[in-house]
Amino acid sequence: MEYENKLVLAPMVRIGTLPFRLLAAEYGADITYGEEIIDHKLVKCDRRLNEKIGSIDFVEKGTGSVVFRTCDEEKDRVVFQMGTSDAVRALTAAQMVCKDVAAVDINMGCPKSFSILTTLRRNMSIPVTCKIRLLKSSQDTVELARRIEKTGVSALAVHGRKVPDRPRDPAKWSEIADVVASLSIPVIANGDVFDYDDFQRIKVATGTSSVMVARGALWNASIFCPKGKLPWEDVKREYVRKSILWDNDIKSTKHTLKEMILHHSSLELPEGKAVIKSDSLVDLARLYGEEKSYDFFVKK
Ligand code: FNR
Repeated sequence: MEYENKLVLAPMVRIGTLPFRLLAAEYGADITYGEEIIDHKLVKCDRRLNEKIGSIDFVEKGTGSVVFRTCDEEKDRVVFQMGTSDAVRALTAAQMVCKDVAAVDINMGCPKSFSILTTLRRNMSIPVTCKIRLLKSSQDTVELARRIEKTGVSALAVHGRKVPDRPRDPAKWSEIADVVASLSIPVIANGDVFDYDDFQRIKVATGTSSVMVARGALWNASIFCPKGKLPWEDVKREYVRKSILWDNDIKSTKHTLKEMILHHSSLELPEGKAVIKSDSLVDLARLYGEEKSYDFFVKK
């Protein structure tokens, strides 16, 4: 996996499941992060081939719920993002998925993270990366980034906000630039990319060549298209279609649709109300005129 010149779908809890990742990739994302999954959850799973839909599932023993679903098609670009506070458990979890994903990323949020990164890096053959937020001062962030680089990670994603910042506060691209200037490994710049032109703007402002986008992709996954965004209604329908074909968890599909609708319209209107009332993918298939996709899925 290379980290230069990449457009990257950011990790998003309850959103970055298989259909959303495939959607982003179809529109041009080169690397697609999965939602953060806690190592505790993964180590309780069995790996299973789902022959009906052609996916690889990590299924929780006992409950049977799918914790992580992927497929061959995305193997070379999907990043498994993990939340962890323990190096040994993180390694166990990473080893379970390493043959099915392109890289493992650690969402940095715990003081033991350096030893976790070192342990993973020494024992894994696929790239290990890390994602951070900015610290209080730019100097602190640069120091943290340098320590992370020393663990041998392949790339570092930097979200240009600090912990107390709200999502609507502007991302500090200049502080990402300080990190880029201090490291030799690729840095993936993240924060406030809402249009295709913003990819170029953040690259120039930060001095890096790879960019990660979260909300801009959630609101319209075709943000990755060089020719400009497609109508969000079309993107939404394609998301519903993929959710049906990949038998996505209904709660995740509803949550993602609600987030999309909230941004463009309102949940008080008939569409939003109908999504909230939907109990299953077949309800959503009817709502969005995707009955054919559902029939195709059932007959598979
Ligand atoms: C996130 N973010 C996030 N970050 C992360 O490391 N792991 C995660 O699972 C999530 N989950 C998540 C869910 C949702 C709905 C949002 C909006 C964000 C943070 C995200 O990856 C990104 O760093 C920030 O949103 C900043 O990027 P944008 O939104 O300005 O492009």
